[in-house]
Amino acid sequence: MILIEKIEEMKFYIRERKKEGKIIGLVPTMGYLHQGHLALIKKAKEDCEVVVVSIFVNPVQFGRGEDYETYPRDLERDRDLCRREGVNVIFTPRVEEMYPQGYSTFVEVEGKLSSILEGASRPGHFRGVVTVLVKLFNIINPDYSYFGEKDYQQVLVVKKMVKDLNFNIQIIVLPTIREEDGLAISSRNSYLNKEERKAATILYRSLVAAKEQIKRGERNPHSLISFMKNLIEKEPLAHIDYIAVVNPKTLEEIEKIDKKALLALAVKIGETRLIDNMKIEI
Ligand code: PAF
Repeated sequence: MILIEKIEEMKFYIRERKKEGKIIGLVPTMGYLHQGHLALIKKAKEDCEVVVVSIFVNPVQFGRGEDYETYPRDLERDRDLCRREGVNVIFTPRVEEMYPQGYSTFVEVEGKLSSILEGASRPGHFRGVVTVLVKLFNIINPDYSYFGEKDYQQVLVVKKMVKDLNFNIQIIVLPTIREEDGLAISSRNSYLNKEERKAATILYRSLVAAKEQIKRGERNPHSLISFMKNLIEKEPLAHIDYIAVVNPKTLEEIEKIDKKALLALAVKIGETRLIDNMKIEI
């Protein structure tokens, strides 16, 4: 496994592998790798001959007052995990090279898809995500790129960008990996103290309880949202940002649950903002 920091070096490495006709897979990450990332890497290893894991805490996708400075970082540990999984290259560009002084180009998926839910709570977030991914896709030119369904809206936004900008990249999406008690695995879980960690299961518990209500015949999204809200509000450490019952393709609100729906929520547990979602099929 090699570690590459410089963009030109990364491009050169890829050019050489492409000459050899190799299939390239990219797992874009912000590091502090967990089981969710490892599942993406394992799948990339199955599909591709060369697997690149990018580790880059992307400043432009964090809003003011968010956790860019404190976002967990541990390159040594990430390196060991990647080596164990048979990753070929870790790409860790420097912020100053990705966004040098005077940098001024940003890519945005316009419209509702990136302005509702996470987009509404974190203005500019998807603009930052899409911009860094366009840069990574241009540098690494992968055949496949891998994403987790925990960031459901991110997946839809990325797929739209890939389609609109005619990238020749297959976006592969893997299900959310959960702890034994249901908590969706996320690097941000490391912020939780013992008490908060316990309280954090309320996200998954409320999703499961809502699904049960649907099984019992509930079809009204508003009633379902009230039901989840009541449940979450019983947890003193939890503060709801949003709860939504939406069309899984467009993320627009629905008036009635029939066939398919997505339950999505963002909740602060203490100071830590967590998201989760569940697909419903009747
Ligand atoms: O999901 C993430 O970790 C980030 O948003 C991504 C896709 C690596 C872009 O910085």
